[in-house]
Amino acid sequence: MSNKVYVTRKILDPALPMLSKECQVTLNKKPNPPSRAEVLKNVAGKDGILCMLSDRIDSQVMDAAGPSLKVVSSYSTGFEHIDIREATARGIYVTYTANILAEATADLTFALILACARNIVKADRYVRENKWKVGWSPDLMLGYNVHGATLGIIGLGRIGAAVARRAKGFNMKILYHNRSRNQQLGSELGARYVDLDDLLAQSDFVSIHTSLNSTSRHLIDSSKLSLMKKTAFLVNTARGQVVKEADLVRALKGSRIAGAALDVFENEPLSRTSPLLKMKNVVLLPHIGSATYQTRSKMAEVAARNLLDVLAGKEPDPRFLVN
Ligand code: DGY
Repeated sequence: MSNKVYVTRKILDPALPMLSKECQVTLNKKPNPPSRAEVLKNVAGKDGILCMLSDRIDSQVMDAAGPSLKVVSSYSTGFEHIDIREATARGIYVTYTANILAEATADLTFALILACARNIVKADRYVRENKWKVGWSPDLMLGYNVHGATLGIIGLGRIGAAVARRAKGFNMKILYHNRSRNQQLGSELGARYVDLDDLLAQSDFVSIHTSLNSTSRHLIDSSKLSLMKKTAFLVNTARGQVVKEADLVRALKGSRIAGAALDVFENEPLSRTSPLLKMKNVVLLPHIGSATYQTRSKMAEVAARNLLDVLAGKEPDPRFLVN
């Protein structure tokens, strides 16, 4: 039991029993993320870190861990919270839980598309708040068709493709924009590649599935929002920073677009003072794209396995290796 690992949050079985069997585990048992000071203290002398997307793993953390650190295993598919260049320069493996959460996140994306198109949240509140007085009404809670509508997918990676497969079942017209055109995948999914501006102008639902990087940061700003149809909805289950939130707030306030459904925000948790909280044309979720028992448990298993493989001197599974 010579290997020491730091786990920054309690995660589902089987991760912790797997790790405890082979390593000395220091676990942050609190329900909230560890503070920066706690991270710096707890990584000292560790061989591995199992972290979340809310933990910034940079050179300061790697310095605090010291030369024993061999692996940073992230319980996430995004890895923008880790300084990959620094880790690579130090010979530290970085792994992630790619290819596990695409289907769960696509399910949630579809739930959001349906929720905003069909006023699901607003209608639920209406009933609970005892505002439903006249039974069936010809114009109560009118929304928009999802079937047959045009869906614009920004980023046709694993999650974008899983969303497209669902959209096919709804007989939607599917457009996509990606850094590069993927002709084969596009034709398998019945999705047509278009420029970003065309996608924004033609879609009834725009769904964001790009990873966060220097080109996608604030990709959707006021100039892009102004291209969207006034009846269109923006759905984001990727990363909040892809959208310039202040510009989105202005577009929603001015009814420039019909609404938005957001699972992610520029700053999480969403501030109690965010104007989004007061808006009727938005659906807001607390970053739960992958939050199913099955998916989170599989992520836990893969994150633990990735870490243990490196500590056992093996190459991590290339599907889960970042660097
Ligand atoms: C990830 O893993 O990057 C997701 O956003 C969290 O479910």
